[in-house]
Amino acid sequence: MSETNAPTPLASASASPSRRDQPGYDYDRVELRRKLALVPEEPGSSKPDPILVVDNVVRRFGGMTAVDVGHVEVQRGAITALIGPNGAGKTTFFNLLTGFDKPNSAPSMLKRGADTAKWIFNGRDMGAVGAAKVSRQGMVRTFQLTKALSRLTVMENMLLGARDQPGENFFVAIVKPLWRKREAEIEAKAADLLERFKLYEKKDDYAGSLSGGQRKLLEMARALMSDPSMIMLDEPMAGVNPALTQSLLGHIQSLRDEGTTVLFVEHDMHMVRHISDWVIVMAEGRIVAEGPADTVMDNPAVVDAYLGAHHDTDLGDDSLLTDESFDEIEAEVAHEADARKEADARKEEGTA
Ligand SMILES: Nc1ncnc2c1ncn2[C@@H]1O[C@H](COP(=O)(O)OP(=O)(O)O)[C@@H](O)[C@H]1O
Ligand SMILES: [Mg+2]
Repeated sequence: MSETNAPTPLASASASPSRRDQPGYDYDRVELRRKLALVPEEPGSSKPDPILVVDNVVRRFGGMTAVDVGHVEVQRGAITALIGPNGAGKTTFFNLLTGFDKPNSAPSMLKRGADTAKWIFNGRDMGAVGAAKVSRQGMVRTFQLTKALSRLTVMENMLLGARDQPGENFFVAIVKPLWRKREAEIEAKAADLLERFKLYEKKDDYAGSLSGGQRKLLEMARALMSDPSMIMLDEPMAGVNPALTQSLLGHIQSLRDEGTTVLFVEHDMHMVRHISDWVIVMAEGRIVAEGPADTVMDNPAVVDAYLGAHHDTDLGDDSLLTDESFDEIEAEVAHEADARKEADARKEEGTA
């Protein structure tokens, strides 16, 4: 990621109508796509720089095997889509990885062997690690059905997402001035994120009063309170109206551009095609195909077998999103990124 640190000339950034014209723009993404283009398009293929490596994760419900993943890797710094028909095991897989459910295959801490369930996130063994600890390690997820707490306000929901909550630490709690400073920092961060997700005006409203789409945004904003290195989104677009859909997409792309790894489950194939650097297809609990979006989604064998019309997976015809809306979003993202960069530069000048 060292390339990201290359200084961007700010004069040209503010003068330019598009980030695309700037030297260095999208350099990482181009580099990322170039690296991914060399990855074999087969289930379980190795990635050049995986943030997550999963082995032998099996989950059975009664006699039915919901998840049976032999090996899969997720590339760091990329947007990876996990797609597949309803009931493929995508949500269950998310639950297992994030410690909300336990695999039937033995966790690696209890047993060593070829059939041992093991997943390494950012170099750490996450098998047999509880959900709270997983999220502290930087792997944070949102839910298919939102878990925003409706009887708390929007701001209170955000504060719950903060890592190192002052109340959790006895020693910090007795040193009041430090405690207050930390609390103020957390609130400022929450306010920033709420601004970014256009929810700031709602900060004192109960989360229960938000629309479904706004709750999705709140959940994503809350997940970002802990500065995750990977965010996992389970159907972020479901139930979101077209206006919010666009800002959600923009947020996901900016996250990746700022260095967060994104793994998301989504039925809207138009969205998957447009924003994914890599696509993983899951069916009947297994990883059955992988590759860049265009290759995988234009592969008739994959489409017929797993994504075809007899499944309820939407292949894009009735997508809420058009190509024009994507262009608009990209322009908006570029504009927002420029504005943020300028604001940061001004802040730095101010403190220098
Ligand atoms: N708690 C559970 N108890 C029993 N069966 C479950 C449970 N959770 C999921 N399943 C089953 O596991 C399979 C995979 O479900 P899920 O992971 O929700 O799929 P997806 O998210 O890909 O639609 C489905 O057949 C589903 O009915
Ligand atoms: Mg699901």
